Amino acid sequence: MSIIKYTYKDIYFENNVISTEKYRVNEDNLWICAENEVIGQGTLSGTINTDKEFDILFLSDCHLKADYQLRLTIGVEKTGFYKYDNDTISVLKEIRSNQTSDKDAFIDQNHDQTYWFSIDRENKRLRFGKGYMLEKLVVFEYEFREKTIPNIFDHMKYMGFSKIDKYPDSCIYWRYAVTQDISPIIISPQQITLEMLDKNSATLIEDLSNECMYLYSNIVGPNVKLNTDDFPDFASAINYSIVTPGKLCFNKLKEKAGEFSGPLETYLRVTVGINRGDSPGIPFVLEIWPGGHYSPIHNHSNANAIIKVLHGSLTCQWFRSLSKFETKPYDTLVLGAGEITWLNDRQFQTHRLYNHNISGNMCATIQCYMYNSTDNLHYEYFDYLAKNGQKNQYTPQSDWDYLSFKKLIKEEWSNYKQNLPPIDRDKIN
Ligand SMILES: [Fe+2]
Repeated sequence: MSIIKYTYKDIYFENNVISTEKYRVNEDNLWICAENEVIGQGTLSGTINTDKEFDILFLSDCHLKADYQLRLTIGVEKTGFYKYDNDTISVLKEIRSNQTSDKDAFIDQNHDQTYWFSIDRENKRLRFGKGYMLEKLVVFEYEFREKTIPNIFDHMKYMGFSKIDKYPDSCIYWRYAVTQDISPIIISPQQITLEMLDKNSATLIEDLSNECMYLYSNIVGPNVKLNTDDFPDFASAINYSIVTPGKLCFNKLKEKAGEFSGPLETYLRVTVGINRGDSPGIPFVLEIWPGGHYSPIHNHSNANAIIKVLHGSLTCQWFRSLSKFETKPYDTLVLGAGEITWLNDRQFQTHRLYNHNISGNMCATIQCYMYNSTDNLHYEYFDYLAKNGQKNQYTPQSDWDYLSFKKLIKEEWSNYKQNLPPIDRDKIN
């Protein structure tokens, strides 16, 4: 049996490209095997387009006849977890298509899907999911009933795929098991309570990456806001500009109506600062969302981002992947003024933002982006899902720089106020 180095490039280990020395593929029956960093725990995913059953495995040795194995077999009519203990094979959990109406437990035939298998020594749990490696995206799981940690986990030193026709389009290893997701809401240490900790309903910035911490510290201050002493009506003036024909924002939105899929799928981008080369486009962007407007479903070049609502409110919807087959959000959250959310390469990366308010109620957000320090690719686009279901590239553009925009809106607002009709005091009284 010949073993050669696995040379596929898109393998990540906690955001780092893994040394290909560790990855091997047997060309005879196309299975891939790699060392598991932490014995007994880890998650392995592959993006695969197939209509035939295949396995994701953790094993005691780097070959398919290893004495100890935990296998996830994903099929068209049957999916299950199986334990191999020397010559004994046990079915831990099995779901058959004639016993369930849930099609998610099986292969998504004839299109790409990301399948993952998580083994969790401490919680004695196996999990199967699709899309990002998240608890919210678990399709089904199995928990060992033993009081002590089952012996099998202590043998899980390798991992891989078998019965696949070709290399996965993408293959990601995470050294942790999928346990509990991190909340989308970031709060300050002064706000957190025992209830929040218990329910996992909020995140502290210290829980996130250095890149998120850097971005957060730039925009969290109370003075990062729209209405300031030098222009206390900035938000009202933007609203006026959006809803009044011929005004700055109205005209720009009209000009951008064909950018994605129609006049409501538009928003305004006001860039703050310059492109420093560590983010897709300029890192700080004031985004203005007219009432009823929304973005296409899109992702963020696997970058980190922090989003703070400066004015109004906004609905965030998150998706399992960027695909015409994944247009139903797996989670949704309404953010109010002052609230802050985040995303990174493995959580909340694919989203749609929607100002659910009626016309005249714009929402303004400050969004900031930064690549992982380990990202040497610097993919400069946001990929989005077009109306026809195709994935397109969007180059982050600037409608105005911040100071020019503020000046123009201020002038417009000043003209509006000067031309207001005189107040009829008799009518007021
Ligand atoms: Fe976005």
